[in-house]
Formats: sequence, C-alpha cells, structure tokens
Amino acid sequence: MKITICIGSACHLKGSKRVVNRLQELVAENGLSDKAEMNGAFCMKKCGEDGVRVMVDDKIFSVLPENVDEFFKDEILSKMN
Ligand code: FES
Repeated sequence: MKITICIGSACHLKGSKRVVNRLQELVAENGLSDKAEMNGAFCMKKCGEDGVRVMVDDKIFSVLPENVDEFFKDEILSKMN
C-alpha cells in the first residue's frame, strides 16, 4: 500500500507535518512498516479547506491532524491483508 501525504503549502498550513508524524507512529505501532510505503508529495492540485490531502494508492482523502487515528483505522488498517 502506498501512502502519499501532501506537504505543499496549503496542506502544510492545515497540519501536514502532524499528519505525517502520527501516521508514521501508527504504521510502526501496528507493525506495518513493511507493507505501507510512505511518501511526501508537493501540492497535489487538490488543495481544500477541509484538510491535508493524503493519497492511499489511487484514492485521495482529506485528513485533519485530529482525525488521523480514525482515518488510519478506516482507510489503512482495515484494508491491509
Ligand atoms: S498543497 Fe496539498 S493539495 Fe495543494
């Protein structure tokens, strides 16, 4: 699974650094380091008011620092096999 987090300026302002840090922790805590490949990307041209853009494989999500745990559980952990 490929997880790409936008670190462009609009997403940076919405807390991309916190999203990256927390996702890294969650991936490590759940022993998924071998399965989840994490990358940063510059502006995905989908800047929005509602959060940091995170792409999981080909799907783009909007994640806020306070919702990272929920996002991880619903979109990453539950889709790992
Ligand atoms: S800065 Fe993240 S989508 Fe534009």
